[in-house]
Amino acid sequence: MAKPVILLVCGSVREGSTNAAVLATVKELIPEPFTGEIFEGLRELPMFDPDLDRDPLPAKVVTLRARIANAAALLFSTPEYAGAMPGALKNLLEWTVGGAETSAKPCGWINPSTGPSGAAGTYASLGVVLRYTDAAVITDACVAVPVMRNQIVGGRIDDEGIRAQLARCIARLTAATR
Ligand SMILES: Cc1cc2nc3c(=O)[nH]c(=O)nc-3n(C[C@H](O)[C@H](O)[C@H](O)COP(=O)(O)O)c2cc1C
Repeated sequence: MAKPVILLVCGSVREGSTNAAVLATVKELIPEPFTGEIFEGLRELPMFDPDLDRDPLPAKVVTLRARIANAAALLFSTPEYAGAMPGALKNLLEWTVGGAETSAKPCGWINPSTGPSGAAGTYASLGVVLRYTDAAVITDACVAVPVMRNQIVGGRIDDEGIRAQLARCIARLTAATR
């Protein structure tokens, strides 16, 4: 039987992204019987357009919705740009409004910001949009785990303390899927 999937969605498309390193590390830490899948298609999604949000949907949107529908839970990690979530991530979430795939879906996030504002604006807006789509935001699985760039080696975080914090977040999210 296929393993239940935790879909990992990064708000950064940047090479060397801290948020991507967080999710690559999370993928390694996800416990059985779950498995982690990184959503790689953020950059290729078309700009949201209500006129395109009908059959036949753009192929990349079909894939996005199928990946969300197939997931037991979603876990986000995203930078803050100009005080809010990146446009690319908001665009992805706008494409979820027209499908019911996120409805009641357990969602969490890991905020690795080390900035003075703690990227509060991006996660406030992420929470607003997820709740708008009727996702089940699991408060205990929405955590700040500051990560310095020098703690990333080969696209992974090897600091045991950080890995333990990530593992606790994952456990709270997977618990919410049962
Ligand atoms: C255009 C732009 C705007 C940014 N705005 C903010 C901001 O409002 N708040 C903040 O804390 N960091 C801001 N940053 C810094 C990024 O959030 C930070 O570099 C983050 O680590 C990038 O994430 P990534 O490493 O996953 O790509 C901004 C960066 C860029 C390029």
